[in-house]
Amino acid sequence: MELKWSNEYNIGNNIIDAQHKRLFELVNSLSRLDAEKATQDHMKKVLDFTLRYAARHFKDEEILQAMYQYPDYKAHKKIHEDFVATASKLVEQYLAGFSPELFNNLKNILYDWVKQHILVEDRKIGEYTKGRVPDLARLVLARRG
Ligand SMILES: [Fe+2]
Ligand SMILES: [Fe+2]
Repeated sequence: MELKWSNEYNIGNNIIDAQHKRLFELVNSLSRLDAEKATQDHMKKVLDFTLRYAARHFKDEEILQAMYQYPDYKAHKKIHEDFVATASKLVEQYLAGFSPELFNNLKNILYDWVKQHILVEDRKIGEYTKGRVPDLARLVLARRG
């Protein structure tokens, strides 16, 4: 089960698109991991890194939304927070006993969530920001006169 990048995932912002591609790679690396063979230390490292990367990406995406005064900023931020809470709990449960079933479940949830979230929620940001100059940029341009 691999996430394959295609045009429909592009939201039109280079930084966000590059981060989404990296997120795809991280989810795919998780998919390829053999939870029965990998060491517990390795599993922990990979999962921690993936969660940290996702959390940092969400922050960047929220900064971008704030810059554009995206109207659904709060709702989108809440979706990110809920996901981080759910994923962290699942990772914690998995790390408590390293059950391959829990790992499979976790990896399926990550796969589905990342895919759907980009296609549905993140693409809305792309639609909204298309052709708009961020306020910050507008301010700088206005100062230049
Ligand atoms: Fe995103
Ligand atoms: Fe998002």
